[in-house]
Amino acid sequence: MTATQPDLGTWVGKGIDRVEGPHKVTGTAPYASDVTLPGMLHAVVVTSTIAAGSIVKIDSSALLTLPGVRAVFTHENFPRLNTPTQVLFGEAPVVPMQDARIAFHGQEVALVVADTPQEATEAARLLEITYAAEPPLLDPAGQRRETLPSSPDTSRGDTDAGWAAADVRVGATYRTPENTNNPLGLMGCVAVWDGDHLEIHDSTQGTIALRTILAGMFGVPESGVRVRVPYLGGGFGAGLNQWPYKILAAGAARELGVPVKLMLTRPQMFRLVGHRPNSEHQVRLGAARDGDLTMIEHRATSLSSMDFPAVGLLTSGTPHLYDCANVATVERTVRLNRRYPTSMRAPGEAEGNWAVETAMDELAHELGMDPLDLRLRNLATERDPATGKPWSSNAVIECCRVGAELFGWSRRDPRPASTREGDLLIGQGMAACGFFAYMPMSQARVTIYADGTAAVRSAATDIGTGTYTIITQVAADLLGLHPQQVDFQLGDSDMPASAHSGGSGLASSLSNAVIDAVSHLRGELLALAGPDSPLHGLAPDDVVCRDGALCRRDDPSAREPIADLLAGSGLVELAADGRLRPPEGAARDMVHAAAYGARFVEVAIDPMIGRLRVRRVVTVTDGGRILNKKLARSQILGATVGGIGQALFEDTLTDPGTGRVANGTFGDYLVAVNADVPDVEVAFVGEPDRYTPSGTKGIGEIGLVGVAAAIGNAVFHATGRRARDLPITVDQLMM
Ligand code: MOS
Repeated sequence: MTATQPDLGTWVGKGIDRVEGPHKVTGTAPYASDVTLPGMLHAVVVTSTIAAGSIVKIDSSALLTLPGVRAVFTHENFPRLNTPTQVLFGEAPVVPMQDARIAFHGQEVALVVADTPQEATEAARLLEITYAAEPPLLDPAGQRRETLPSSPDTSRGDTDAGWAAADVRVGATYRTPENTNNPLGLMGCVAVWDGDHLEIHDSTQGTIALRTILAGMFGVPESGVRVRVPYLGGGFGAGLNQWPYKILAAGAARELGVPVKLMLTRPQMFRLVGHRPNSEHQVRLGAARDGDLTMIEHRATSLSSMDFPAVGLLTSGTPHLYDCANVATVERTVRLNRRYPTSMRAPGEAEGNWAVETAMDELAHELGMDPLDLRLRNLATERDPATGKPWSSNAVIECCRVGAELFGWSRRDPRPASTREGDLLIGQGMAACGFFAYMPMSQARVTIYADGTAAVRSAATDIGTGTYTIITQVAADLLGLHPQQVDFQLGDSDMPASAHSGGSGLASSLSNAVIDAVSHLRGELLALAGPDSPLHGLAPDDVVCRDGALCRRDDPSAREPIADLLAGSGLVELAADGRLRPPEGAARDMVHAAAYGARFVEVAIDPMIGRLRVRRVVTVTDGGRILNKKLARSQILGATVGGIGQALFEDTLTDPGTGRVANGTFGDYLVAVNADVPDVEVAFVGEPDRYTPSGTKGIGEIGLVGVAAAIGNAVFHATGRRARDLPITVDQLMM
């Protein structure tokens, strides 16, 4: 191992139950929607019914006579706010209701504030707005569009030469639709000002990121904003951006001098908190007769909103997965009069992998080669082929081999449409995948108390993935405590600044911050040891915490009870701060590795009615060190369900004439439900990653990647018919 790896293994890895589980199931976990403050008013957002143009007239005077209505904010009276210059994460937020312009159907145009949510909702329904509509830009192929780069172009070798040299070539266009993140928890906030100090209870995935934005917009110091998110009901990326609704609630609360609560409705969740944007991919692959890739070209385009940046990342994995000398990626975003996009679980990679891994299956078919063998032949496992530097870990081959074994891939008849069971066509498909490494800065404070307990504090959030639990396990191991003796508090921007929970980065970032903090804590404890102590003069890495004592690592009988060390110095507690550190030693020359995976799927298709059932899924993941095997499995299961949804159901439709979301409810927007999800076999492979002390790689997103391509490839195997556009619907399967 390269980075100094601490002693993790008593609690880390074990599948212990969620430490916050009892709070959730007994209803005592406070979500933003549960926050009620004295004198609180309720705000409802009114959204535009045109996609482009401007507001000519909003007459709110009639509303103010309705029962309970306290205020109506529009662009005419909403405070003018600063455009934030500092954005800690993601897309720059839009300052809402600053002028009369309309950039998309469903844009925030007014905020009605009343005594009750019902009164605000009814008044919002009655608000009359006159618009001057203009023809919206809605056609991605239209002439009047604006195109901007969304990820840097990459290129190595010579793709034209690779194409010319190939014995077998494939090239096709693949599409993915808009998907909506749809966390189960409706997003919302409660904002309250005390003078120039703002406190906001919100559903953000990043407390510090929101603090920075609000401080900038309202012109107050960062210390003048406190963001509270002890719980949020999922996110899948919808909580990454600091959306207008929060700014509207904070602005209204300031103007009115009372707390304001704003909860979005489910239809508004389809419009106001982002989505995975539509994408289109042109992929060309060339290979020698033996299956060696001679070139990969991936050109991708996604959609964004006016005045809004791109989400990108569609091609980010393509240069790195396969060992090929000639690779080029190009990525663009087209701006239209559409809603704001954002990251959605496995952003970009979920779409790009669909294209490239379907193309790989097409190539395997043209080569007459087993699709698994084509992967095994070309996967880049030792070095990042883009830089030539060694991976910090990479078990993608093991993912493929273990998955194939568990699935029984060797028994597959490779001929398409060869396997029948009665009237059903049976198909088996697979895909390989990676999800880029991303590890933003986190900090944590670890406090040890004379009574033998400890607390960890960080401004991080737990979007339901298990942050509370895994960090408790890490701290318990490092401090030699039982998890019940560790109290991990998060979700408060007044705590040590932490990354958002996003990009599969938090588990690594925060666990390493805790490792660093405990190392400092050991140093502080050592400094309390007197000259007669058996620990005197040792370095922090020479000692470990065990059973309430600080012990020599190589001789645990040389020990000092921590309570004695504190008492001897007149202390009741001792705290130390830590942060994610840059890689050390050999890790500096490595490429921080992605999580990897291989997905194997069996489908059964009834060609008479176009019905597809996913019958089996085997999903194998290289996530480095797994901190909690139960929660890790849960992450992969949930992501697999998301992948089935991406493959077969999820499709947010925009009316091409008006720009309106045509199916923005759970009645009309289909997601995978229990009946759509077979038993899923989840396996983990690989070793602790060498890039950081924790040895972790994020697994929040990798589980979704590759599922859609494996399903599509299984459809081809079942039917001989190639699906290139998601979702794969009945009309594509009828024969
Ligand atoms: Mo994830 S899409 O970074 O919440």
